[in-house]
Amino acid sequence: MKLTLKIWRQKNAQDKGRMVTYPIDGIDGDMSFLEMLDVLNNDLVSRGEEPVVFDHDCREGICGSCSLQINGEPHGPDRLITTCQLHMRKFNDGDTIVIEPFRAKAFPVIKDLMVDRSAFDRIQQAGGFISVNTSGNTIDANAIPIPKSDADSAFNAAACIGCGACVAACKNASAMLFTSAKVSQYALLPQGRVEATQRVLNMVEQMDKEGFGNCTNTGACEIECPKGISLENIARLNRELLSAQLKG
Ligand code: SF4
Ligand code: FES
Repeated sequence: MKLTLKIWRQKNAQDKGRMVTYPIDGIDGDMSFLEMLDVLNNDLVSRGEEPVVFDHDCREGICGSCSLQINGEPHGPDRLITTCQLHMRKFNDGDTIVIEPFRAKAFPVIKDLMVDRSAFDRIQQAGGFISVNTSGNTIDANAIPIPKSDADSAFNAAACIGCGACVAACKNASAMLFTSAKVSQYALLPQGRVEATQRVLNMVEQMDKEGFGNCTNTGACEIECPKGISLENIARLNRELLSAQLKG
């Protein structure tokens, strides 16, 4: 395949940044999107030009670092996959592909396509722990009866990989889907109930401090989420928050 890539280049957080066009040839449909970018970067390096900076680690849909806005969609045109799982067969010979970083005030650009998502880490740090008695009387987690539907919902919420696609997809750059997944994975389990009240208050406070926008129930986050995190988690977050505020 021959393609035209329009890629956001930005030297650092202060630079204004601009789109740069790169023609690319010899791309196979079986290549992943990141392998296609590797080909481009090899070409750039061999010509003595700076390679395009983009985030990646596992390249198998686990770490959540490969966050790219491709033709206006977080993680590109496919559903329920990350950018590293996207294959070039989703594109056609002669296509123009526009590649940008995730855009949100709370995700400042570090360089080119790489953004700083440490705001997510701080939200998790604000409330993401449970207290477990480890004094020798610890109850085996498997011995605690948990309704199957609750265990399934908690497990599904825990599938969030913190990629930030929900924020990039949202017209308000809201982090509600991410935060609600992190609140839900604990709120549904007895081990997580001990600090549930303070956890939801702290995480929502941190989310607001980081500069994410408000949720207006558009649902774009759920559509673009590579892990299928459901809007039901946002409803649960709102219930948890209201009950915590009433207690407090
Ligand atoms: S909720 Fe989905 S889109 Fe948002 S950070 Fe988690 S995995 Fe990524
Ligand atoms: S590189 Fe880890 S999810 Fe894509």
